[in-house]
Amino acid sequence: MSLTAYDLTGRSAFVTGAAGGIGRACAALLATAGATVHCADLDEEGLLETRRLITEAGGASHVHLLDVTDRSRVGAAVSEAGDLDILAAVAGIMHTSSVLETSDEDLDRVLAVNFKGVLYTCQEVARSMIARGAPGSLITMASGAVDSAGPGLLCYSAAKAAVVQLTKTLATELGPHAIRVNAVAPGWIRTPMTARHDADRQQRVEATMARISPLGRVGEPEDVAHTVLHLASDASAFMTGQILRPNGGVAMPW
Ligand code: NAI
Repeated sequence: MSLTAYDLTGRSAFVTGAAGGIGRACAALLATAGATVHCADLDEEGLLETRRLITEAGGASHVHLLDVTDRSRVGAAVSEAGDLDILAAVAGIMHTSSVLETSDEDLDRVLAVNFKGVLYTCQEVARSMIARGAPGSLITMASGAVDSAGPGLLCYSAAKAAVVQLTKTLATELGPHAIRVNAVAPGWIRTPMTARHDADRQQRVEATMARISPLGRVGEPEDVAHTVLHLASDASAFMTGQILRPNGGVAMPW
């Protein structure tokens, strides 16, 4: 085995949530590893910036403006993308509300984006891989929230727990097609999703998260992207149905 296992030259990847945060870092790293990356998101400006960064670094990419909750649009984009070898289903939203205050609308929206959106992209990409008879790697984005419970996080953690079950189930169904399916469950990562407070409070939150990590720091999008690269590449050829946890050695502290 050599480091060429990480070389994705000639491969094609579809990345949702690619307009920012973890998704952008994944798209950029997969492109650096040699893949042609199809960047999908509903944020057009962010997508164009991701494409600019990839081009500037000498990589190849395409953009697809879509909402992952729109099954037909996801199907159309996957078919426009053509032969795909890798999916990183990263798009997601945060939501907090206590159980007693959670409305049908809250639940429906979070499940739609964080679970159904992942399901739709996995279904569409897997169908196209099977039709082509090619091996592939599907990577889903769960969360450290699946390992714990915290106030306000019911909708988010339930949707992410469903993503884990989707991942494990799909791994059993797609293994015979040589398609691997794994999840990534990051800890606290510094992205627009976690930058929700004013500067002072943000600094305090980050300091707390860093203090409880044996590594003494919070995560960066690139930490997650390297885990995704591992799962996308032949370096993880014998891994399927797994959950990898780039979390600095700490579960969520609630
Ligand atoms: P982010 O908010 O920075 O990026 C999320 C991206 O998803 C955005 O570009 C957004 O436009 C896109 N998106 C949202 N809804 C969409 C939809 N319906 N259709 C298409 N695109 C949509 O968030 P971040 O932090 O980069 O999170 C990425 C993933 O990682 C999410 O699934 C999140 O739940 C997960 N995660 C993040 C952690 C963190 O600490 N930042 C920890 C654990 C998991």
